[in-house]
Amino acid sequence: MTVWTKPGESCATWPPAELAAGLPDALRKTCERLSAHSDLKIHVQVHGTPVTLDSEVETALLRTARGAVANVLEHAHADSAFVTLTYHPDAVVLDVVDNGRGLPRSHVKIDSDRGHGLAGIRERLRQLGGTLVLESEPGDGTALAASIPLKATEDG
Ligand SMILES: Nc1ncnc2c1ncn2[C@@H]1O[C@H](COP(=O)(O)OP(=O)(O)OP(=O)(O)O)[C@@H](O)[C@H]1O
Ligand SMILES: [Mg+2]
Repeated sequence: MTVWTKPGESCATWPPAELAAGLPDALRKTCERLSAHSDLKIHVQVHGTPVTLDSEVETALLRTARGAVANVLEHAHADSAFVTLTYHPDAVVLDVVDNGRGLPRSHVKIDSDRGHGLAGIRERLRQLGGTLVLESEPGDGTALAASIPLKATEDG
């Protein structure tokens, strides 16, 4: 078996093995696995026509979903979450929305992240020309949107 590694990721296989079946399937399986031993109900939706994306883009989106869902499980006290993957002609967008207690005020502005999770996600997306947006109201859940333009990946 070939183990693909990238600089700084020596202990992870790359691309993640789950992606062999495509990003939508990998997202569904990851969400099932992460929520299996919890009361969180995760609804995974795919909009648009799935196309195979650059491996780095699919890996970044899968890891974004993992980090975001881990945060919902760890911090949100939510009972449901929607994970939505949308294929636009010029971009792919991953939304993770929960109905939990919302981000602490200090974390709504992404620049003030203290944890490694969101900062790492933001940096990975930035390297691919993408963005991470967080929206939250206290007591009214959190919405995370990760967007990666497709043109930038074709050039890179
Ligand atoms: N869905 C969410 N609901 C409520 N609070 C959240 C949510 N996601 C993140 N947070 C808050 O934002 C903080 C930063 O999240 P981040 O993922 O960067 O770090 P972490 O989860 O604390 O640590 P790590 O991901 O490195 O294990 C969290 O500590 C938590 O307070
Ligand atoms: Mg985290």
